[in-house]
Amino acid sequence: MKTFYIETFGCQMNVHDSEKVIGTLVDQGYSQVDTPDQAELVLYNTCSIRDKAEQKVFSRLQQFKREAGKGKTFGVLGCVAQQEGEKIFERAPHVSLVCGSASYNKLPELLVQIGSGEKRVTGLSLDTEDTFETAMTRRDNPHRAYITIIEGCDKACAYCVVPFTRGPERSRTGESILKEARELADMGYTEIQLLGQNVNSYRDPSPSGGDFARLLRAVGEVKGIRRVRFTTSHPRDFVKDIIDAIDENPVLCNHVHLPVQAGSDSVLKRMLRLYTRDEYMRRIEWMKRSPRNIAITTDIIVGFPGETEDDFQKTLALLDDVQYDSMFSFKYSPRPNTSALGLADAMDEVEKGRRLTILQEKQRAIQLRNNSELIGKVEEVMIEGFNNATLQWIGRTSQNRTLNFVAAGTPAPLQAGQYRNVLVTRAGANSLVGEMVN
Ligand code: SAH
Ligand code: SF4
Ligand code: F3S
Repeated sequence: MKTFYIETFGCQMNVHDSEKVIGTLVDQGYSQVDTPDQAELVLYNTCSIRDKAEQKVFSRLQQFKREAGKGKTFGVLGCVAQQEGEKIFERAPHVSLVCGSASYNKLPELLVQIGSGEKRVTGLSLDTEDTFETAMTRRDNPHRAYITIIEGCDKACAYCVVPFTRGPERSRTGESILKEARELADMGYTEIQLLGQNVNSYRDPSPSGGDFARLLRAVGEVKGIRRVRFTTSHPRDFVKDIIDAIDENPVLCNHVHLPVQAGSDSVLKRMLRLYTRDEYMRRIEWMKRSPRNIAITTDIIVGFPGETEDDFQKTLALLDDVQYDSMFSFKYSPRPNTSALGLADAMDEVEKGRRLTILQEKQRAIQLRNNSELIGKVEEVMIEGFNNATLQWIGRTSQNRTLNFVAAGTPAPLQAGQYRNVLVTRAGANSLVGEMVN
């Protein structure tokens, strides 16, 4: 029996790609092991979104270099593989497989080539229609399942590697997505997360067509599915009909992740984000007016080339205007191939750090306030597990908040995957605490 180990860095799409790669390998007669030293094939599914993520991959590869002599095969998958290509063989000579996400359907073939003695094999073509649909996916979580509905990205944000690492947009047919959703429901999954770098640019490639909102409505109707989430939405393609769909069906979770990146029009323009602050705020208004009480979260980059103090103040003011429920924030990191490399006025790291801290402190106060407003309310959670340190159950609300709770005097034992009602009794900036109610 051939054995493999896989380690995954990066976004949910990468996590889900690994689930598909695992299924593909198991189908080829491999079995998965928990540590690299037990494995004959060691795979790293990599992320290149910021320089730190990329460096982590190379330091991890060096760490296991010592093992290399013992007949192991090392492979680099994902976004660093696609970005660096054959250069990886120079930087890490013990690697013999380099394969980007658009070529995973070739993995069995590439492994056969290695098996027959080839020292270096690659899958790096981006000229593909492939969306890597496979029936073999090995999902990690028995209750919540990812489904990639669209691969790649056709935008060209000035700072971003994704168009280079994942190639052009390719949507799956609605029929195949719905078939997978129904199969998942039959297997007992109750939550589905639709994935795409630009999930709402989705367009059904079959003759009947259909946009993202239509797909969302259809997935929301699949029997047995109690929650549907989706990420990541691009503001430019975010139409009101998506909110209407959420308003119509409580199965569609009341949470939208809508990365804004910056609050100033001049920075947005230089980032090539394709929307203005006003256009973004119009979408926020749709959500605020929804009766569903939609949680709104975002991503922000500070220190983009030429970001003035005034630009940064506009980002801070945007936080006041939107009152986000959560935010991921990053220092701008210059990336290979991207157009922002040509921009003048790079900011030094110390100033980026200063801005990031100010931004995060402001957001923390907003989150504490938003979360505190939920005290006294009852929220339905899906149970994710039990925390042995705090002796609390871990739950997640439809708004995607973590709600840890105790279940005093419950007759029936609780378990992950169940849905329960919880009264919120306390609030922190990043989570809520509560007590189960019957
Ligand atoms: N497709 C999504 C997000 C992709 S990457 C979108 O369009 O919003 C996730 C987040 O990483 C981005 O939203 C952005 O905030 C951040 N990011 C991407 N490239 C970056 C870079 N070069 N430096 C710092 N942060 C970056
Ligand atoms: Fe990157 Fe922009 Fe595409 Fe998002 S929309 S993946 S930030 S290029
Ligand atoms: Fe990273 Fe690639 Fe995802 S760069 S964030 S793993 S698309």
